[in-house]
Amino acid sequence: MKNILLLGSGGRECALAWKLSQSALCGTFFIAPGNAGTSEYGVNLPIGYNDFEAIKSACLEYKIDIVIPGPEDPLVLGIWDFFKNDPKLKHIIVAGPSKEGAQLEGSKAFSKKFMGRHNIPTADYREFSAESFEQGVAYIKRNDGPIVIKADGLAAGKGVVIAANKVEGVKAFRSMVMDKQFGEASSKVVVEQFLDGIELSVFVLTDGENYVLLPEAKDYKRIGEGDKGPNTGGMGAISPVPFADKVFMDKVINRIIEPTVKGLKQENITYQGFIFFGLIKVNEEPYVIEYNCRMGDPETEVVIPRLENDLVELILKMNEGKLNEVVVAHSSRAAGAVMLVSEGYPGNYSKGIKMEGFEKVKGSLLFHAGTIEKVGKNKQSEVLTNGGRVLAVTSYGTTIKDALKKSYENVDLIDYDGKYYRKDIGWEF
Ligand code: AMP
Ligand code: GLY
Repeated sequence: MKNILLLGSGGRECALAWKLSQSALCGTFFIAPGNAGTSEYGVNLPIGYNDFEAIKSACLEYKIDIVIPGPEDPLVLGIWDFFKNDPKLKHIIVAGPSKEGAQLEGSKAFSKKFMGRHNIPTADYREFSAESFEQGVAYIKRNDGPIVIKADGLAAGKGVVIAANKVEGVKAFRSMVMDKQFGEASSKVVVEQFLDGIELSVFVLTDGENYVLLPEAKDYKRIGEGDKGPNTGGMGAISPVPFADKVFMDKVINRIIEPTVKGLKQENITYQGFIFFGLIKVNEEPYVIEYNCRMGDPETEVVIPRLENDLVELILKMNEGKLNEVVVAHSSRAAGAVMLVSEGYPGNYSKGIKMEGFEKVKGSLLFHAGTIEKVGKNKQSEVLTNGGRVLAVTSYGTTIKDALKKSYENVDLIDYDGKYYRKDIGWEF
């Protein structure tokens, strides 16, 4: 039995908590800080996921064997190195890359150079800073049409601008690199060619040498139906992805996944954890849009329910470098998740709104995201909204359509002021 500490508080972590807690290998299980849903599966600890000292104390107090960072921040800040450099913590498995490996997500310039070194297909690009501002402007002005401007570092999901033309491109570039729109994160900028295609998310767990392929997914990023309006953290997801057929996935494996895993090893970059390949399919060919050093959200809410293996066992095999001994089974059932969000999201929204109806839900999995449990006036505990995205309603089905039909039936049963969700998740399939 292994004592586990999962870091994070979103729908992704709730889905991971649901899965981990089902393992016969899971001993005492903690989530820091967790949400109103994760407390069904383990004990929530009031600790921020970037508070390494508090995480250390909790690991020692509760004799933790495995730490699983959900979000990218602790990984990019070097939680793996923090553990491995501390004699009291270094025996603990951290399911995630070293600080250097997390640069695949933490620095767009790093990931683009890495892809270049290993011939991994991605959009053509150049890297610029304030010193090379004029060259950057010239590069943007070379063509008209859309161009993509990306802050090098983490910018809370806001660091990518798809500019419709060179005028907007130069404007976005200037804000990032000269006006330091995202501070240090945009002191370097990647300017890349716009790829026109359809996106999907592919995930592996790697031990640094071998890897296992998890179910693929597609998320729906825009707030509005028909993929309109501003980007969000994700309004829903489906798995499997119908257009990711065998021929396409073989290309993904041969041209992208294997060169990535081999490339990390060749460059002596310590990486034992999840790799999230944000891909785009252009004329049947896969390209990498981005790497993430963690699982996706809301993709995890459909990927993890379709993973039939014991996740704790996979993590232990990863730690031993023996993922080659594992056969991964993906459920033949489809999964579809619909995200409920707060009114106003992704702009300003209120928190602390009472949510009801959970007990009426039948035949779906509820993965809480921005929720919190409080004791109400009548001394009963109640669930309140505590974020923009509040709840993922996931269902299985024979087809994606069936799965989503079930999710939408149950979405209707959840009630809170300002409830909003997209009514067209999976509409294309
Ligand atoms: P990223 O943070 O790199 O995932 O970018 C955010 C979103 O911008 C992606 O999910 C894509 O929808 C879009 N995007 C990024 N790079 C490109 C590109 N080169 N061509 C087209 N769309 C892109
Ligand atoms: N769903 C995209 C992400 O997790 O970054």
